Amino acid sequence: MDIIIRKDADAAADLVAKLTINAVNAKPALTLGLATGRTMEIVYDKIVEMHKAGKVDFSKASSFNLDEYIGLEPTDENSYRAYMNKFLFDRVNIDKSKTNVPLGMAKDVQAECKRYEDAINASGGIDFQLLGIGMNGHIGFNEPMSSFSSLTSAKLLNEATIKVNEKLFPNPEMMPRKAITMGVKTILNTKKTVLLATGESKAEIIAQAVEGPMRASCTASALQMHPDCIVVLDEAAAKNLKMRDYYDFIFNNSNEWAEFR
Ligand code: GLP
Repeated sequence: MDIIIRKDADAAADLVAKLTINAVNAKPALTLGLATGRTMEIVYDKIVEMHKAGKVDFSKASSFNLDEYIGLEPTDENSYRAYMNKFLFDRVNIDKSKTNVPLGMAKDVQAECKRYEDAINASGGIDFQLLGIGMNGHIGFNEPMSSFSSLTSAKLLNEATIKVNEKLFPNPEMMPRKAITMGVKTILNTKKTVLLATGESKAEIIAQAVEGPMRASCTASALQMHPDCIVVLDEAAAKNLKMRDYYDFIFNNSNEWAEFR
């Protein structure tokens, strides 16, 4: 796990956008894993800017999103499908028929979860996964106590998540209490993953996820087992890390990061 700390949220998002376009440029038929959330909005803005400047072509890429609320139509403005159309898919040249988001309106939710996991595998697996982190340490919607060996499945959202996310709905009661999410193992199976967290409110959970023990009550801590995981933070989100000097040493001395210093 590489921990990269940038001075502010803008610089952190810029790095994540650059890592994403570098991955697409290295493999145009890349299978992207995509995340939603407020933290990601600025990353998508930057990717769109880079696309408009001719720095990246998405025409051969495909994507799988982490999660979707159960009970929302894809056309519902609060669905993650609508979020992705708005922030990324409608603004770049990705073929929308190759973008995948779990179907929150599926009649048979279990069958939908299996279909989604199978589709990821059939694509050859996710090459490059973007992740945010919830206030309770969730990745995707893998709420506390989700098994580290879970595949795509339906999850009941916990109180902390409801409190944070219901603010994004016109009326808090409209927020679904269930979601379909890639499992922790689905995320661990991705070839490379980049988690972005910014702001002081994420400092405590980031310290637990990155430097704390691995435990199902903070599913992001499972990323310690991921073979190629980069955690990008701003100063505020990195505030509680104990080995900060070491992370900076790696960033400043390894060849992999030379172009970003
Ligand atoms: C939602 C998503 C997560 C995301 C999290 C963080 O709950 N299901 O995938 O990581 O939000 O959101 P934010 O960036 O708004 O803090």
